[in-house]
Parts: sequence; C-alpha cells; structure tokens
Amino acid sequence: MLIRPAALVDLPAILDIYNEVISHSTAVYCDDPVTLAERQAWFAARQEKGFPVLVACETDKVIGYASFGDFRSFPGYRYTVEHSVHLAPPARGKGVGAQLVNALLPLARDMGKHVMVGAVDAANEGSIRFHQRLGFSEVARMPEVGFKFGRWLDLVMLQRVL
Ligand SMILES: CC(C)(COP(=O)(O)OP(=O)(O)OC[C@H]1O[C@@H](n2cnc3c(N)ncnc32)[C@H](O)[C@@H]1OP(=O)(O)O)[C@@H](O)C(=O)NCCC(=O)NCCS
Repeated sequence: MLIRPAALVDLPAILDIYNEVISHSTAVYCDDPVTLAERQAWFAARQEKGFPVLVACETDKVIGYASFGDFRSFPGYRYTVEHSVHLAPPARGKGVGAQLVNALLPLARDMGKHVMVGAVDAANEGSIRFHQRLGFSEVARMPEVGFKFGRWLDLVMLQRVL
C-alpha cells in the first residue's frame, strides 16, 4: 500500500469513494452525489491554499483518501485545520485510515498548524473510536445540527493538538 499526494487523474476514484459514503451513510451531511466538476473545484481550492490531498493506493487503485483545509474562515482560526478521511468499503478495517491520518499530521505541523479537528456524525461510532485511537479527544457534541435521511443528526467534534 502506497500513500502519495493525489493528482488530477485520481479524482474520479476519489469521487466514487465520496459518493458511496454520501449515499450509504450519514458520515457526510450531503443528500445528493456530487459531480466530478465539484471534486475538481475542491481539489483546485485545496491546492491553491497549499493543503494536502493524500491517496492510499493498492496496485495502482485508489482505495482511500484524506485531506485537511481551513476549520473556519476567520483569521483567528488560521492555526486550526479540519480533516476528512474516507475509504472504499473493501479497504475499511485494515489500518489504511490510520496510515492516511498519520501521514496528514506532519504535513499540518510543517504548515505551522496547531490543532486538527474532526467533525464526526454521532452515529459513526467506529469513526469516533478510530479518531480516539489516533489521539483525538471528543470536545463537543452538538445535538441536531445536521439533517439527512429525514432525521436530525448529532455532530461530535474531536480534536488533536499537533
Ligand atoms: C472511518 C474510517 C476512515 C476508519 O478507517 P479504518 O482504516 O477503517 O479504521 P479502523 O480499522 O480503525 O476501523 C474503524 C471502525 O470502522 C468500522 N469498521 C471496521 N472494519 C470495517 C469494515 N470492513 N466495513 C465497515 N466498517 C468497518 C469499525 O467500527 C471500526 O471501529 P472498531 O474497530 O473500533 O470497531 C473508514 O472506516 C471509512 O472510510 N469509513 C467510511 C467513511 C467514514 O465514516 N469516514 C469518516 C467520516 S468522519
């Protein structure tokens, strides 16, 4: 398994992983699949600001990706980033997620960032445990701030000081 910076050619695979998560779970608070053009715009915005997008590959196939970007836009939040990590279903439960997030941490430090935040749906208990194992601590639970599949969703905020 190889972890490397994503390239434009990886975006269709990243799109497939993201849309599978959107349609099958509440891990992303988005109702509809996104388009390749949207992922291209997202990737361009990350690149423009110097934020990494990493992919995990097995025999040239992208099986997961991770990235971080601004937590909030006000300048006082400039030392804090929010990350995301998603794997294709067959890649889950094998340590790939940890390798991706562990690869993000030094990149965030190198950019002078101080805190990394993860926003995880409360029903995604596996992801909450996953983040806790990586040194993230739960710092907030925000009841009913999300809505998807006809129900309110609670958001759990976890953070790790870098
Ligand atoms: C969350 C995720 C990034 C964790 O990466 P990972 O490499 O699978 O991490 P782990 O092996 O530590 O597994 C984390 C949890 O996923 C669940 N899991 C494990 N294997 C799984 C599999 N084959 N299929 C589905 N879920 C699985 C388990 O609940 C596990 O937690 P546990 O071991 O404490 O029970 C990854 O499972 C994933 O992409 N999930 C779908 C999208 C998602 O939830 N993204 C995160 C949004 S905050």
